[in-house]
Amino acid sequence: MKRVILITGGAGFIGSHVVRRFVRTYPEYTIVNADKLTYAGNLGNLADIGNEPNYLFRKTDIVDRQAVEALFGEFRFDGVIHLAAETHVDRSITSPDEFIYTNIIGTVNLLKAFRETTPVNDVKKLFYHVSTDEVYGSLEQGGFFTEQTSYDPRSPYSASKASSDHMVRAFGNTYGMPFVISNCSNNYGPNQFPEKLIPLTINNIETMKPIPVYGKGENIRDWLYVEDHAAAIDVIFHSGTPGETYNVGGDNEWKNIDLVLLLCRIMDEKLGRRAGSSRELITFVTDRAGHDLRYAIDSSKLQKELGWKPSVTFEQGLGLTVDWYLANRKWMDTIISGEYSKYYEEMYGNR
Ligand code: NAD
Ligand code: TYD
Repeated sequence: MKRVILITGGAGFIGSHVVRRFVRTYPEYTIVNADKLTYAGNLGNLADIGNEPNYLFRKTDIVDRQAVEALFGEFRFDGVIHLAAETHVDRSITSPDEFIYTNIIGTVNLLKAFRETTPVNDVKKLFYHVSTDEVYGSLEQGGFFTEQTSYDPRSPYSASKASSDHMVRAFGNTYGMPFVISNCSNNYGPNQFPEKLIPLTINNIETMKPIPVYGKGENIRDWLYVEDHAAAIDVIFHSGTPGETYNVGGDNEWKNIDLVLLLCRIMDEKLGRRAGSSRELITFVTDRAGHDLRYAIDSSKLQKELGWKPSVTFEQGLGLTVDWYLANRKWMDTIISGEYSKYYEEMYGNR
């Protein structure tokens, strides 16, 4: 079936994997990628599909209402998969404003434009909001986040994502706009900006810089390979029930320090360095303010209802990820020039 699908934030980490998957798997769809190209957006992430006939890019700031209206004037979208966001918790702590603008106001601009250009109650015309498990807050040692867990966001990032989830549901309930939401755990894989733990650690090991571990490294995250998240987004978009929420996770909890130690071992081996040399780079630094202790997702609803499950083990996924970063040094060098160096100095310079 011919469809025109808007994917926002397609030049970012997860968005680029989603755009590639949709462009390649559904040649009958036209995929429009709308992205502002912030520091986190990089069209190089899509170089291999940039010239495909069913792919179009429109540089768009979703905060700019007129730009959003112009985009929805140019195309009649049959569906929206919304990933564009400010995504880094540490940045949200030092400057929350962009998170409010992009994640809340940007989402509302998209909702309004989609509603105004789409017949209500056409269940095939879905607004899909890609969200995070961080909206649920912080878990102690036991239990998992389910779709019934109450929202308890604790950082400006997670509060802005929780707000946007609420706005999506509000548009669904108030105006009859068909929507789905998924809340996913931490992703890792190729093309992730090196402000996040895994690519930052890989880069710092390769370049022999200190590896900053916040606090005592006791915080726990549930890691999922990015391609498996893209596969979940595909199945939820096509087969999810409108109005429903799906949790996506890897059932793969790691304490930060154990994960960093594992990466050190893998990197020593891959780089042919003396066993134990990378771990000497580990540096415990001041903890993140309000640092959530643990995230862990129960994804059984998605597994049972839609048949999704992760396709790679953590060992396989980390291996693929490390290999990709080592083979793509140029990508990293481009990313860490300029703005990144300034950020890194401000973030870690005096810790
Ligand atoms: P990212 O930071 O790598 O990419 C975000 C993209 O959004 C970039 O391409 C950026 O240019 C674009 N963008 C930012 N502001 C914009 C604006 N005003 N207008 C248009 N485009 C804008 O993010 P990511 O890690 O790929 O995350 C994508 C989505 O998935 C986000 O909504 C995030 O909340 C969600 N998510 C991420 C994770 C994770 O572990 N990374 C986990 C669960 C959910
Ligand atoms: P991050 O990749 O920023 O994802 P999130 O905060 O969305 O979970 O961080 C993952 C975990 O790693 C989190 O507990 C914070 C920690 N962390 C460090 O210990 N050092 C670092 O340099 C970074 C970026 C994160």
